[in-house]
Amino acid sequence: MSGLQKHPKQHILQLREQLEYHNYRYYVLDDPEIPDSSYDRLMQELEELEQCYPAFQSMDSPTQKVGGFASETFSEVVHAVPMRSLGNAFDTAEITSFARRVKELVGLETGEVEYVAEPKLDGLAVSLRYENGWLVQAATRGDGKKGENITHNMRMVLADRTRLNGDRLPEVLEVRGEVFMRTDDFHQLNQNQQKAGLKTFVNPRNAAAGSLRQLDPAITASRPLSLYCYALGEVLGVAPPKSQLDALEWIKNMGLPVTDLVKPVVGVDGCIDYYNELLGRRDSLPFNIDGVVYKVSRTDWQSSLGFTAKAPRWAIAHKFPAQEQVTVVENIAIQVGRTGAITPVARLKPVFVGGVTVANATLHNAAEINRLDVRAGDTVIVRRAGDVIPEVVSVVHSQRPQSARAFRFPRECPVCGSAVVNQGDGVIARCSGGLFCAAQKKESIKHFASRRAMDIEGLGDKLVNQLVNDKLIDDIGDLFSLTLTQLSNLDRMAEKSATNLFTAIERSKNTTLARFLYALGIPLVGEATGETLSANLFTLDEVAAKSEEELQNIPDIGPIVAKSIRTFFQQPHNQKVLEKLLNAGIHWPQPTRAKDFTHSIFAAKTVVLTGTLSMARAQAKSWLQSAGARVTGSVSKNTDFVIAGEDAGSKADKARQLGVEILNEAQFLQHIHNRLTV
Ligand code: IVH
Repeated sequence: MSGLQKHPKQHILQLREQLEYHNYRYYVLDDPEIPDSSYDRLMQELEELEQCYPAFQSMDSPTQKVGGFASETFSEVVHAVPMRSLGNAFDTAEITSFARRVKELVGLETGEVEYVAEPKLDGLAVSLRYENGWLVQAATRGDGKKGENITHNMRMVLADRTRLNGDRLPEVLEVRGEVFMRTDDFHQLNQNQQKAGLKTFVNPRNAAAGSLRQLDPAITASRPLSLYCYALGEVLGVAPPKSQLDALEWIKNMGLPVTDLVKPVVGVDGCIDYYNELLGRRDSLPFNIDGVVYKVSRTDWQSSLGFTAKAPRWAIAHKFPAQEQVTVVENIAIQVGRTGAITPVARLKPVFVGGVTVANATLHNAAEINRLDVRAGDTVIVRRAGDVIPEVVSVVHSQRPQSARAFRFPRECPVCGSAVVNQGDGVIARCSGGLFCAAQKKESIKHFASRRAMDIEGLGDKLVNQLVNDKLIDDIGDLFSLTLTQLSNLDRMAEKSATNLFTAIERSKNTTLARFLYALGIPLVGEATGETLSANLFTLDEVAAKSEEELQNIPDIGPIVAKSIRTFFQQPHNQKVLEKLLNAGIHWPQPTRAKDFTHSIFAAKTVVLTGTLSMARAQAKSWLQSAGARVTGSVSKNTDFVIAGEDAGSKADKARQLGVEILNEAQFLQHIHNRLTV
């Protein structure tokens, strides 16, 4: 993209053209082709070039204009006070120089400036014009000077807030804010669109823009749009507020929504603390934010600082690291999982996104490949948000090379050649080879050795591949007959590593029944089911002997899981493997009988542990389980308790939002202690 050899003028013109194109797609079509981070990079590149070559600067450049256009579909509105954009900062150094400049310009020699810190909502800006308390006009930002008239549609979003509260209302009041869509509303809308065979939206911002800019207000009314207000435009007839904080308070008192994430902060340190706090909460907020905004609070200082061509000198956006990036699909590969599930995976040109380097993204299944219309060679947008696995969001179709060929889903397993069978409306494709398939074999061994299963340290992907390829092992039962000499003779295996691995294999023989059941890789039996089986049946023989009906009598075990367990233990080859394992000396302490849970407040409750506790997490989990609780990893409306240790972050926040009861460690121990002594 940098094109160092290009003549600067040619490069500048090319960047302007690209930015105009992306502005059009974003603002007019509501259908951006590249993520904001790529747009920001193009803009930064152009800004830097224009600074180096002032001769080529121009008022027409996208660097000098607020992004949008006023589309011709809606009538035009001239903003009484222009709607400006914000300058972007990407690191602390930029915030420090912004704040230094503010101090210099307002002539503050000692002390710190007070700012109001706000989330940067990722939606579209609107201006609401009220006269004597009644909504008379609503407009999009457009190019900042002229926007589109969306009054009818905004009435649908505002509902009863088209009339302001209070008795001394100004003759004219323009309130500015952001229309956006909450994440869960967005997913729901996309589901509905898909069911109805209609176009789905790439992200909540697009969905909000597309829903607001509808010719038929009834469509807008049917879409779940939200609004937060954050600024004033024209104010006539009353004295304007003296600070940003007062302005927000006033807006709120008149009945318009203001987010309660707004916070007054002092100086750069206050700004950065706020940034870090919100960055930590980003993934648990009910809507997308792409950064935070700092605004000098005093309005007299705002006036004296004024504006550049595009943005105020008294406010700046501090952007979060991008969760979306552009990269190239080098290949589409097929992965065969432990239970034969066949998953297409996009092998990507590695890209840094959401804080990690991503080289693979699952494409889930054939239907998803069709939906995205993704091909090897395509330029794609990859998203990684929080702990969520990276995904391909969309294809940049305009950059598809001619050589890109559509992907053909295999009919035969690429590893063992067995037929691929489809299940569940063709969504799940499975290799029918079972443990004959080397891929399934290897995956089942990797799973068996994994940390939460038998925890054989040092037995990773490469070694498992080597052991299976060299025919030293064929199934999990063979692991325990490996000799130290065999391990030492492996390619690239140092003596010490061989000894360590040998010891780790030996040590893993001492385990728990729950872990062992999970390690076996019985389809649909995860850690929780392993625990349940162990806590209710107490011996492996019992688990293996129970009928489907008997298994279904155990809490949390339904017919499908019961069938899977039964089928597993009936297979002669599984029985042989079990025999090998038990003969090798795998053992566990006898699980204690499930107690009478009725005394515990955790009995039959769903509990989430978060933050740092003074005891090991596993200990707390096991106490809870023995008190009859189900311990899960994420907070939802089905969670009954969250136990929050030190520095509990987003999970505790989410619990607060959902009104889930939070216990601190002392309270937790108190309940457990009471329970243990009855
Ligand atoms: S204030 C003169 N505050 O970000 C300053 N804008 O990149 C006007 N935005 O056009 C904007 N959250 O669409 C402001 N808390 C916030 C915001 C916010 C999101 C959007 C808004 C604006 C764009 C600039």
